[in-house]
Amino acid sequence: MADWHTTVTPPALARLLATARLPEPATARRPAYRTLAGQIRLLVTEGRLPVGARLPAERELATALELSRTTVATAYETLRGDGYLLSRRGAGSWTALPEGAPPPGDALRPVPPDEQGRILDLGVAALPAPQPWTGQAAARAVELLPQYAAGHGHYPTGVPVLREAVARRYTERGLPTAPDQILITTGAMGGLHLVQRVLVGRGDRVAVEAPSYAHTLQALRITGARLVPVPYEYAPQPRWDLEEWQRVLRGAAPKMAYVIPDFHNPTGTLIDEEQRRELLAAARAAGSIVLADETTAELGWGVPESTPLPRPMAALDRSAQVITVGSAGKLLWGGLRIGWVRAAPALVRRLAGERVYGDSGTPVLDQLIAAELLGEPLPDVRAHQLDRLRATAHAFAAALPEHLPDWSFPAPPGGLALWVSTGGLSGAALARAGEHAGIRIAAGNRFGADGAFEHHIRIPLTVPAPAVPAAVERLAALAARAATGGRLGAADEAQPLAI
Ligand SMILES: Cc1ncc(COP(=O)(O)O)c(C=O)c1O
Repeated sequence: MADWHTTVTPPALARLLATARLPEPATARRPAYRTLAGQIRLLVTEGRLPVGARLPAERELATALELSRTTVATAYETLRGDGYLLSRRGAGSWTALPEGAPPPGDALRPVPPDEQGRILDLGVAALPAPQPWTGQAAARAVELLPQYAAGHGHYPTGVPVLREAVARRYTERGLPTAPDQILITTGAMGGLHLVQRVLVGRGDRVAVEAPSYAHTLQALRITGARLVPVPYEYAPQPRWDLEEWQRVLRGAAPKMAYVIPDFHNPTGTLIDEEQRRELLAAARAAGSIVLADETTAELGWGVPESTPLPRPMAALDRSAQVITVGSAGKLLWGGLRIGWVRAAPALVRRLAGERVYGDSGTPVLDQLIAAELLGEPLPDVRAHQLDRLRATAHAFAAALPEHLPDWSFPAPPGGLALWVSTGGLSGAALARAGEHAGIRIAAGNRFGADGAFEHHIRIPLTVPAPAVPAAVERLAALAARAATGGRLGAADEAQPLAI
């Protein structure tokens, strides 16, 4: 169980319960205790009630919900029997996931080359290199290489032209930045891991959005951090639940808060400036570092060009508590393995000093290619990549409701993926079956700090739009088999999927 427990007050739980919709026909036939147990189970599996959350005492909840105490006691008893609640006499009751629930954290691996003909890869959310610009940039970089080849080629902070190009891009986005605030890393992942390795100790708490980017969660687990998930609010639009963030920051005083404010992976959510400011204020009061992951910040394919975007978190920060990580991997190409950290110059130097014991530096030629792409071709490259994401998003938005009417997803303003609720089907079971049926899927529980989001999958927008009908057909066939094999009751019977 987590070492820090958020306490859910009776009114907060009542509010959440009002949003937990169970399948209609079953609700009508269910006794009140089963409805309540089912709703709490749904909130836990959907990550809206974190695992390890302390629930109200039976009597208090009964009063808040205007139910009898016996109803609440029987609901809690049912949840305990199913493994969704742990209780200690005199101490209280905490939400849990049953033993045998699919474990989170197994990394998303790309389909190996010899399987690419057979398997449609919806596991990895990354675009191909934009052409012809990448080829042209590579040719220019090769022409420049002799200037660099005459030296030793080691640049622990990055090649100056790329540090300048990244700093210029921040300045253009409304955050004046000097090159000595930029450390070039091997992908955003290299930056995230370096920051975590240097600033987060074994046993330190790190607050994370729930859901969050799967690989960062796993990197944090490997570092020995204790994850404290903070659920999103979904109505009317997905956004941070700031009350919960404030409670977690005040109560758990995490060393770090890791957030993806711009076109979040996997939900695509864009956080407005007011929420950014409020989270920063709460983190400042708690003494927590904010690690803002801007890997997806330039992927606003659903935002009109004329609409100003919220400023980067670091632009709203007066106390240098924000460390930003970015990447060329999503806007340009993941194969370059170019990322960066934006921080105070002293921290950049410290991180550079540490990274020499890791990857030592990032390949020079790739940095030169990225610097070329971030220069003159950038507006065209960006338009090309956003057009592609938008076309695929529209294709999925048309095909999914037609073929999978029970599935739903918030329409995101940008980002790499759709965060799809599978109408009660196990995302992990769909992913397992998909491997045999020729489609790789990222199960939702990979994006939960604690194995939540069992009834979600992430669908990347990085496949070409013409591939969408085939992808949706395969998904619909999988879902049909899952449903006949025994639908995982969203809240009713927790039976395994026979597929
Ligand atoms: C939010 C987020 N952070 C980090 C990464 C990793 O980026 P990179 O490929 O640059 O290591 C990704 C990749 O999808 C991402 O979506």
